[in-house]
Amino acid sequence: MTKARDFVGPYRLTRLIRAGHSCYVWEAVKEDTNERFALKMLRTEEAKNRDEIGYLKHEWEVAKELHHPNLIRFYDFVTQYHAPFLVLELYSALNLKQVLREGPEPLAYLAEKIIHQTTHGLHYLHERGWIHCDIKPDNLLVNDDGNVKVIDFTIAQRPKRSLLSLLGFKQPVRGTRSYMSPEQIRGETLDGRSDVYSLGCVVFELLAGRPPFTGSSPNELLEKHLRASVPTVMVYNKDVTKDCADLIRRMMGKKRETRPKSMWDVLQEFRNIQVFTKKPQPPDFKLSDLDTGPVTDADALKQLPRAGSDAAENEE
Ligand SMILES: Nc1ncnc2c1ncn2[C@@H]1O[C@H](COP(=O)(O)OP(=O)(O)OP(=O)(O)O)[C@@H](O)[C@H]1O
Ligand SMILES: [Mg+2]
Repeated sequence: MTKARDFVGPYRLTRLIRAGHSCYVWEAVKEDTNERFALKMLRTEEAKNRDEIGYLKHEWEVAKELHHPNLIRFYDFVTQYHAPFLVLELYSALNLKQVLREGPEPLAYLAEKIIHQTTHGLHYLHERGWIHCDIKPDNLLVNDDGNVKVIDFTIAQRPKRSLLSLLGFKQPVRGTRSYMSPEQIRGETLDGRSDVYSLGCVVFELLAGRPPFTGSSPNELLEKHLRASVPTVMVYNKDVTKDCADLIRRMMGKKRETRPKSMWDVLQEFRNIQVFTKKPQPPDFKLSDLDTGPVTDADALKQLPRAGSDAAENEE
């Protein structure tokens, strides 16, 4: 039987999908309609942290008007319970990082579809005036058929030059180092070509099974994005065509002027080339059956009863 402590307002929490640094992602059922959603909720100890609330609110502001099959839908931003949360479309699929744990081979036959759909979603986002700024495998959900939903708009920004940047102030840098464009690392004003760079890194990893740059320290990694020559994906995957390897290299150009100038151009270019020299075959298992590693960490487990009882207090 369901206990009151499993509820947050009208939502019954049914499964913890992910325990991240500042948020939990829960699968939940809205009791009155029986609809399933994903709730992205601040961790209990962050529930009053103004910065973290600000990020969640910002994500809502970015995402609430976005309606595209390759972007996750956002339905609500709820603040009246023990911790603020976003109500999202539930997409029962693994993220690309989880799927890539087994290497790139099982995904090869879906690679083109994944690239096209991700690019489509990002093109729409750019058309709506936003840059994602955190394109990485963890932020792409991929189902068994290779359908993609882009998630996590926490640090999305407008490409316009702000007054601060006109006065020479640099933006604080947030995002994931392994996929960050040189101009993002330098804290410069960004445009859609910054996402083109990050997507180039993701496509590299999708085909090579490893990111284009690795480093023994965060600084070494940043240095490589800024200065190291771009590796070619063919070194890691002999089945990738030269056309495709060249396109990825251009997407990852150090200077944005040398990259394809928009997501739309990236999409057209991928449509005009072949990714592989021979057609990859599907694996004999389903992607969703892959072992994804732990959903949560010990710390998160300790928190669960507390989050639940806080929720129960609100229910009473
Ligand atoms: N709508 C959804 N449906 C299903 N799974 C989801 C959904 N949203 C997020 N997830 C899962 O939760 C993970 C974290 O989500 P998200 O990227 O939005 O949060 P985050 O703040 O970046 O978390 P982290 O601190 O772990 O990076 C995703 O990688 C994905 O596995
Ligand atoms: Mg994320």
